[in-house]
Amino acid sequence: MRKLYAISDIHLSYAANREALEALPFYPDDWLILAGDVGETLEQLQFALSVLCPRFAQVLWVPGNHDLWCLDAYEPRGVAKYERLVSLCQQCGVLTPEDSYIHWPEDPTLVLAPLFLLYDYSFRPATVPLEDAVDWAAKAGIVFRDEIVLYPNPYPSRYAWCQERLRITEQRLQAVQAPGLKFILINHFPFQAYPLGFMRHPEISLWSGTCQTEDWHQRFPTRVAIYGHLHMRGTYYRNGVRFEEVSLGYPQDWRAAKGVVGYLREIWPGPQGETPEHAEMTWRF
Ligand SMILES: [Fe+2]
Ligand SMILES: [Fe+2]
Repeated sequence: MRKLYAISDIHLSYAANREALEALPFYPDDWLILAGDVGETLEQLQFALSVLCPRFAQVLWVPGNHDLWCLDAYEPRGVAKYERLVSLCQQCGVLTPEDSYIHWPEDPTLVLAPLFLLYDYSFRPATVPLEDAVDWAAKAGIVFRDEIVLYPNPYPSRYAWCQERLRITEQRLQAVQAPGLKFILINHFPFQAYPLGFMRHPEISLWSGTCQTEDWHQRFPTRVAIYGHLHMRGTYYRNGVRFEEVSLGYPQDWRAAKGVVGYLREIWPGPQGETPEHAEMTWRF
């Protein structure tokens, strides 16, 4: 039976991650979701696709914050960098948030929706106003490098870019939804505040999504919601919907002996023996 796998945060700037990716076996019938933070450069995405496209029947991609970094002064910034990544994916036959959502071949009621939603600093304590949010985190010694190298051009801010992505994406999901259809939602950033409660540094939440997606799994009937970014692999259920954090992470976040193959998360048909009553996070090591 054809399977849908997912992985994120493969961070190919690390040689150990590159070598492990190349050791992946072939899955000629299966599909793979690559849920962001492949690396920081176009070359790293190119490398990932050169390894993964021949190994899977179909690859789907969404960008992470690292993918949008611009470390070179001459690189296109913001939306232009995003569009360059999208165009590379499309040249390789990889589906992106800019392509039509696709039905799972074995179940036409299942729609795979790759999303690019970014973050808007809304996962923060109620006592911290938006304009003070980064200063609040800086006082704890935490400021994501995104503040310097993730340009929002031509938007005035990453906040504004996120609002526009939310607006466009809600419209598209609304237009596609129909009685009996269920989504597999795919985003780099968590959809809900719940997993952020497990972070050692709560300040990281600022750069980790938007509270506006908290109820998307109910507004847009969903079977599975896939995300990464936290480097905390795990599964939990809300309202009967499975939420899966699928990251590999930096070399210290995973065991070399298991290889990347040990961290491909089966999304569909999915894990057996778990029920939607498992509301708590089940950690995956
Ligand atoms: Fe990451
Ligand atoms: Fe990330």
